[in-house]
Amino acid sequence: MISGACNHVGGPLGRGTLEGDYVTCPWHQWRFHRATAKGEPGYEEDAVPAFAIKIENGHVFIDLNSGTARTHKKREPHPLARPSERAPGPVRVVSVSTTAMDSAYPRRSTSERLLEIRLKKRARC
Ligand code: FES
Repeated sequence: MISGACNHVGGPLGRGTLEGDYVTCPWHQWRFHRATAKGEPGYEEDAVPAFAIKIENGHVFIDLNSGTARTHKKREPHPLARPSERAPGPVRVVSVSTTAMDSAYPRRSTSERLLEIRLKKRARC
């Protein structure tokens, strides 16, 4: 059994989907092997804790003391994480959402929420 908290920003792996041998996080689609808890190929150093289980008389027992270490693979910072530069001229507002969303991976977009708030404030001006 693997941890329910994703390595990325703690997304709910327990609400993810099982695709082959990998659990896909519903927030940004990082993937972890269902048995080894390691990241998908190329990201094996990025592992969530794995726990030993046993089944006896129809009951599942989880050995909470058996958890393996959570490990992280250093990743390049996202291009949008660069420092912003304010150029002279009028204020420009751009909304960018990097969250992958579709009917299979529904999630509320904070970028869209921010844009809604800005548009409401703009409508009042
Ligand atoms: S929190 Fe899991 S992929 Fe982002």
